[in-house]
Amino acid sequence: MGKAADAVKIAVLASGRGSNFEALCKADLGPGRVELLVCDRPDAPVAGLARRLGVEILGLDPGPKRTVLSVECETRLADELVRRGTDLVCLAGFMRMLKGPMLSAFRGRIMNVHPSLLPAFPGLDSQRRALEYGVKIAGCTVHYVDEGMDTGPIIAQAAVEVREGDGPEDLAGRILSREHEIFPLAVRLHCEGRLAVAGRRVSIREP
Ligand code: GAR
Repeated sequence: MGKAADAVKIAVLASGRGSNFEALCKADLGPGRVELLVCDRPDAPVAGLARRLGVEILGLDPGPKRTVLSVECETRLADELVRRGTDLVCLAGFMRMLKGPMLSAFRGRIMNVHPSLLPAFPGLDSQRRALEYGVKIAGCTVHYVDEGMDTGPIIAQAAVEVREGDGPEDLAGRILSREHEIFPLAVRLHCEGRLAVAGRRVSIREP
């Protein structure tokens, strides 16, 4: 069957296990289609998942730093995604911050899923830090990406109760299940053109 002419082309950037990538590939994203996995670690499980699911993989040579792509790499990536006509970029456990080139090319069209109720616990190891802080309600957030660390306008959040005796893995697992719900939902709403951003606030239009 041919692709719908109005398909919204999605590239997913991921570095690790890939459960959110898989959730996006298997969900009904409305007009959204996951067409590409961009991966900065060739040995990451997410690359194996993409092969099994028949999704094209673009490997990155990220450069010397652990937390960002080199400017050359990010520029090449932005150029390549523009060349392919990518409409939306989804960060699904991509462990590097995007900087100028990707933000210039895709502002308002990059989404990230994060395992905390932002603005609490941005950055790494959020579930463990939430537990150590003693929060009673944890959760996850899908947001548009801006220059900051997990600071962009919030599209969707889900709350997860912290249970007596929870360890970081228990909490992370329950948060992850909710990520698999709200990330595809947010992507679908974006692809359907139903998200309106005004300053920090994102509202959802009726279909
Ligand atoms: C997810 O919990 C995601 O929220 C988190 O990494 C995990 C990736 O899991 N992302 C971040 O912490 C980004 N700051 P996955 O590879 O199974 O989707």
